[in-house]
Amino acid sequence: MRIFVTGGAGYIGSVCVEQMLNSGHEVTIFDNLSEGHRSAVDPRASFVLGDLKDLSGLVAALSGAGADAVMHFAANALVGESMTNPTKYFRNNVTGGMHLLEAMHECGVRKIVFSSTCATFGTPERVPIDETLPQLPINPYGESKLMFEKMLRWYDEIHGIRYVALRYFNAAGASERFGEDHRIETHLIPNVLKVALGQKDEVSIFGTDYETPDGTCVRDYIHILDLAQAHMLALGSERSAKYNLGTGGGTSVREIVASCERVTGKKIKVSEQPRRPGDPARLIASSDRIHRELGWTPKYQSIDQIIESAWAWHVKHPNGYGD
Ligand code: UFG
Repeated sequence: MRIFVTGGAGYIGSVCVEQMLNSGHEVTIFDNLSEGHRSAVDPRASFVLGDLKDLSGLVAALSGAGADAVMHFAANALVGESMTNPTKYFRNNVTGGMHLLEAMHECGVRKIVFSSTCATFGTPERVPIDETLPQLPINPYGESKLMFEKMLRWYDEIHGIRYVALRYFNAAGASERFGEDHRIETHLIPNVLKVALGQKDEVSIFGTDYETPDGTCVRDYIHILDLAQAHMLALGSERSAKYNLGTGGGTSVREIVASCERVTGKKIKVSEQPRRPGDPARLIASSDRIHRELGWTPKYQSIDQIIESAWAWHVKHPNGYGD
């Protein structure tokens, strides 16, 4: 297939592009490089420097790509930032997303796979989180992703654009070639690995008084290659659907630090800090639906394996993509 990938120069996009190219698809990446990196663009893909907010540029790029399907990764994704600058999130994630759907309609592209998030669920009333739980976001980031999920339904009903929305839990790890390099790094695993690399003295643990076995937050970390596999399956599916995507396992912040110590062989100094606003205690996915309907099963169930792949990438790229 010919696939038009927004945000293909970002962390998750770059690894998914690599896997699609390995499977014989043709890829055009559309990215404004505000979060992505030029050197994270797989050289086998075509690249268009463009912004979703520029509708005519987007239509030209999409029609030029002759795309059969779209994968939509481009978004701002920092929960904390969305609480201080909601406009950025609604403008880029919602208005930008609407332009993409408009462009797809205009160019006759009838399939989209969308990067949604567990943040659309807010603080869940129970875990594991399945698709029947109410979606009540607690920040503008989650709200912006939910708004786009809702738009998808109407573009399907009215214009026949089929969609698969994948709600990622905590994406982690790397492929051999592409990995995680955010200009502002707020995520736990890369911050712990920076301590192991000697680039930071210590890592903060935000909150040690949660109602969890060791008092720190529990998350469902999913290997980026398993995420990529889910995208490939979603591409082949004819039906519109929304799926939660995680391993079903929970790992606490302290367990992440312990795993990083095992994998890197380095002692990680931690500093216990107050809770970070907006962090739910436990986010764990039920991925039964995607397993049942698309046959997806995560290959990487061990947190050490996931962190090994991240560590290998960071050791090879101590300064990330260097831009
Ligand atoms: N944490 C620390 N220290 C750090 C960084 C994070 O203790 O230096 C803690 C956080 O408080 C949280 C856990 O580690 O409890 C995981 O934090 P991340 O920032 O790595 O990930 P989040 O769970 O906050 O974020 C993920 C995705 C987001 C998504 C969000 C939904 O990365 O894109 O889940 O809640 F929006």
